[in-house]
Amino acid sequence: MSVARIAVVAGDGIGSEVTAQARKVIDAVLPGVEATEYDLGAARYNRTGEVLPDSVLAELAGHDAILLGAVGDPSVPPGVLERGLLLKLRFAFDQYVNLRPSRLWPGTTSPLAAVKPGEIDFVVVREGTEGLYAGAGGTLHRDTPAEVATEESLNTRHGVERVIRDAFARAQRRERRKVTLVHKTNVLTHAGSLWARAFDAVKAEFPDVSTEYQHVDAAAMFMVTQPQRYDVVVTDNLFGDILTDIAAAVTGGIGMAASGCINPERAYPSMFEPVHGSAPDIAGKGIADPAAAVLSAALLLDHLGHAEAAQRVTEAVAAELAARTPGAPLRTAEVGDRLAAHAAR
Ligand code: NAD
Ligand code: IPM
Ligand code: MN
Repeated sequence: MSVARIAVVAGDGIGSEVTAQARKVIDAVLPGVEATEYDLGAARYNRTGEVLPDSVLAELAGHDAILLGAVGDPSVPPGVLERGLLLKLRFAFDQYVNLRPSRLWPGTTSPLAAVKPGEIDFVVVREGTEGLYAGAGGTLHRDTPAEVATEESLNTRHGVERVIRDAFARAQRRERRKVTLVHKTNVLTHAGSLWARAFDAVKAEFPDVSTEYQHVDAAAMFMVTQPQRYDVVVTDNLFGDILTDIAAAVTGGIGMAASGCINPERAYPSMFEPVHGSAPDIAGKGIADPAAAVLSAALLLDHLGHAEAAQRVTEAVAAELAARTPGAPLRTAEVGDRLAAHAAR
């Protein structure tokens, strides 16, 4: 019997380049993992018109976890793959905790001159199945001067409360035990009020966790001026998407930012993917940083109960980053080889 059955959706652009490195590293630390590649993404869509057939979705459901590279390609209209494949997986597998850790690793330079390695260490718990991503809305009078487009944010008490509870439980296991709620309650008075009331209700269950609230515009500023202040940040789907690119940038770049799309109840497989996309501007050149994909693999291993293997992967990445000269060019496959060799020790 295999130690774990993983579905691999490498996807488009640099997705396949970085995922290949993540697989090398997983094989190095946990021999016997059964990994099955799924041909999904732009190539399949352009060849067959298929995005995510139901039969493939059913097969993916039978795995312990999914490792995803990135989807989206200039040859496919925007949204076809992002909504039809990536968001469909997050929604179908009820991956409501979109976990995005940010650390400033020793050896990496933040564009923020005042911040030193080790000083930034927070995690964004981004709601993953609701908000403006739900797809509610529509277009009237398309292509006329009277065109009207609406995009509605869906927020359920159940969905909001469960992700906030997850954020508090995570904070309770961390040293600083602090949760920051980020929203826009001064303008989004319906959804904002629901989030604030759910936050207050859950807060009462965690008296040992301290809390703060920030409007998202202020949070965007503080994430750049004082990222050290954050421990656990909980927010809705779109705010979390935007803030986690800022978080990646202040911790040395999007090439190192990992994420997990998690179904904490384990009713469905969770999915692990870099925060970055398919990067068409550098695809095919072999220069993408695989650190984000490899750190996502560490989150995957941890989720599957292989904490020691996950730790070895994280340590290998830390050593790799510590040895880097900031700004020096890298070769994706060489980094992957080094990480696999280091992690195997
Ligand atoms: P992107 O993250 O792909 O690229 C933004 C910039 O960061 C580019 O300059 C790119 O070269 C750079 N970059 C990204 N990853 C890097 C890495 N590992 N190493 C070095 N540099 C890296 O974002 P985008 O350009 O806005 O989107 C491109 C496509 O990817 C779009 O189709 C978008 O929808 C899709 N996308 C997919 C995912 C996903 O599948 N999870 C996430 C984000 C964007
Ligand atoms: C991400 C991406 C996705 C998102 C897109 C590609 C649907 O930007 O994973 O951050 O917005 O969630
Ligand atoms: Mn994003």
